[in-house]
Amino acid sequence: MKGLLLAGGHGTRLRPLTYTGNKHLLPIANKPMLLYGLEHLKSAGIGEVAVILGPIKEGVEETLGDGSSFGIKITYVDQPEPKGLAHAVLISEDFMAGEPFVMYLGDNLLKQGVQDFVRAFDRDGADCVVGVSPVKDPSRFGIAEIDEGKLVRLVEKPKEPKSNLALIGVYVFGPAIFDSVKKIKPSWRNELEITDAIQRLLDEGRRVRVQKVNGWWKDTGRPEDLLEANQLVLSDLEGNVEGEVSEDAQVTGRVAIGKDSKVLEGSRIRGPVIIGKNCLIGPNVYVGPYTSVGDECLLKDTEVENSIVMNGSRIESGKKIVDSLIGSHSTILNSDATLPKGQKLIVGERSVLQI
Ligand code: TTP
Repeated sequence: MKGLLLAGGHGTRLRPLTYTGNKHLLPIANKPMLLYGLEHLKSAGIGEVAVILGPIKEGVEETLGDGSSFGIKITYVDQPEPKGLAHAVLISEDFMAGEPFVMYLGDNLLKQGVQDFVRAFDRDGADCVVGVSPVKDPSRFGIAEIDEGKLVRLVEKPKEPKSNLALIGVYVFGPAIFDSVKKIKPSWRNELEITDAIQRLLDEGRRVRVQKVNGWWKDTGRPEDLLEANQLVLSDLEGNVEGEVSEDAQVTGRVAIGKDSKVLEGSRIRGPVIIGKNCLIGPNVYVGPYTSVGDECLLKDTEVENSIVMNGSRIESGKKIVDSLIGSHSTILNSDATLPKGQKLIVGERSVLQI
């Protein structure tokens, strides 16, 4: 079994953060999102993975390298234009060389990894296993319609959904998928849709199975999803303070503080919170639950809650910042403005802002 990890696409919904960087490298609990997928593939016993690189590929190769530091052999496959998930499969045919593979969309986060899907594929002698999860708003997703326990149809973002089972972005395919992706035509949005390719497998009487995901699953396409994914991962955080905490500071709940970071007097950290390496937090800072602060950050006279503050940022806002994504190497300073309490910000990389 091989792996296909998708890191292409434009990531338009996460602009401005994706104007300057690949969305799959945005941090969730201080770890690039793409690494969660890579680790899941590895835990399922997969040793060789093709990574799809799209139009914004900066940083992906630097982060993953040849995979040896993760115990995986990585090959990069270029997809300069996001022509669809089925197109990503099509261009990986040589790499797969007839072996079955797990396709994992790099912007997905799963609590339990992909082993269940691989097991279902092997157990049922399947041509395809589609990972699904019940969702509240099915019209936003590709949906699997089931009849008497069997998959009958896949529909992309249905206006009137007949089921609430969304395709989660993890699939296992046997080699029959290549024939299928070659036969389908681009959709109205000019993409080769994986749902069309799988529908073809179904119509040809191939064995297509659905497998429900265990534990939580999150697609991180929108800013609010990224924050929710951060909450889900931080819910399992184990406290570990490697940095220094002043006697006049208060750290409560599960809090991880990296090496050479300092929490200064008058500051309060209420977990779950992760703070990276070499940060200066304080004086007079409040970091509230479900916040991730990257490496080399400086926070002073500010309050931050339920937010992701990326590497190298400096916040001296004098205000409370909530539900926010602060891009790396950004600066947020205080102004005289009287603002309502609780500012929600999405700040691109290397921005300077006065609030
Ligand atoms: P999408 O979320 O559909 O697209 P996107 O990431 O470009 O985001 P947006 O809609 O905000 O512009 O893509 C799902 C995943 O699949 C994501 O990890 C990117 C990846 N992908 C590719 O690698 N190649 C492709 O051709 C497409 C369509 C997506």
